Amino acid sequence: MQVVFYSAQSYDKTFFEQANYQFGYRLKFIEASLNLETASLAQGADAVCVFVNDKLDEACLAALKNEGVKWVALRCAGFNNVDLLAAKAFGLPVVRVPAYSPEAVAEHTLALMLTLNRHTHRAYNRVRESNFQLQGLLGFNLHQKCIGIIGTGQIGIATAKILSGFGCQLLAYDPYPNEEFVALGGEYVEVDTLYHLSDVITLHCPLTPENHHLINGAALASMKSGVMLVNTSRGGLIDTRAAIMALKSGQLGYLALDVYEQESEFFFRDLSDEIMTDDDLSRLMTFPNVLITGHQGFFTQEALTEIAMVTLNNLQELISTGHSANSLTCQN
Ligand code: NAI
Repeated sequence: MQVVFYSAQSYDKTFFEQANYQFGYRLKFIEASLNLETASLAQGADAVCVFVNDKLDEACLAALKNEGVKWVALRCAGFNNVDLLAAKAFGLPVVRVPAYSPEAVAEHTLALMLTLNRHTHRAYNRVRESNFQLQGLLGFNLHQKCIGIIGTGQIGIATAKILSGFGCQLLAYDPYPNEEFVALGGEYVEVDTLYHLSDVITLHCPLTPENHHLINGAALASMKSGVMLVNTSRGGLIDTRAAIMALKSGQLGYLALDVYEQESEFFFRDLSDEIMTDDDLSRLMTFPNVLITGHQGFFTQEALTEIAMVTLNNLQELISTGHSANSLTCQN
């Protein structure tokens, strides 16, 4: 059994080789991301293991099938980058890791909120230059603020639990309400009400064709002036240009992004010697009230250990039964 890992980083190799003691597969790690052009690198492999920015569209899946690949294993939860309909048509089962450590992403969400809220990103730089002035660092309490959570699945609930400890008022929008959220004292409202009432809005829903650019100009205009928006889900949920306009006008008071619409061209790479070609990303980086991290919400030891174990186990299930509890179907 050979598994080819696309978009592989040194930490993928470390954690997967450790988990593989139990499975004994042949693992091959390649840096290139998966697309139509790189599909041929999977020649002879039984399975490919891919990450968030690998593009498994119809043409790419057809090419994988041609190379003899039998299974596709996502080492992540989100699957907006896979054409599941095409995968089904080609008879390529797709598995994912639905929940490895929702707390890892929830804690990162809080780190982003608290950094922007108390300007610790600016304070860090200031103090290193022996500037101990406080002007410009005035924050606000999260205590008693109204937090709007869009999507109360695993990560949304983990975030709500932390925020309830801060004494926040919790609102949520989710087409499938979760009793755990209500038990925490939270209240489900329509998305427009959430926009209207929240001091901080945090996104924890998957990206689908229906909610692409959910946060557009109209949504931003209906939010409280000076609202904080946090996105640790998927970049395509926010219309970046609309967010930039709202930041320029002050309507959007703070923006924290762990994900970005065009991140596949930039994230997970060291581009510090190169010219930044994305004008929107460049513009975002000029705002003092914007904080960007490069899709690191999942990046904890606990999460990587779990991701490696579950991914290899998913493949084991596919080999032995042709199905896995973590198989994706078109309806997912
Ligand atoms: P989940 O599947 O447990 O929960 C998603 C929730 O969103 C569900 O309750 C669903 O009903 C709800 N939902 C779907 N469409 C919605 C909409 N239009 N508006 C409001 N709610 C909607 O997923 P989980 O594990 O909580 O992950 C959420 C997202 O976080 C993933 O889809 C992924 O994109 C992102 N993620 C980001 C990571 C990072 O490193 N930054 C790591 C892991 C996941």
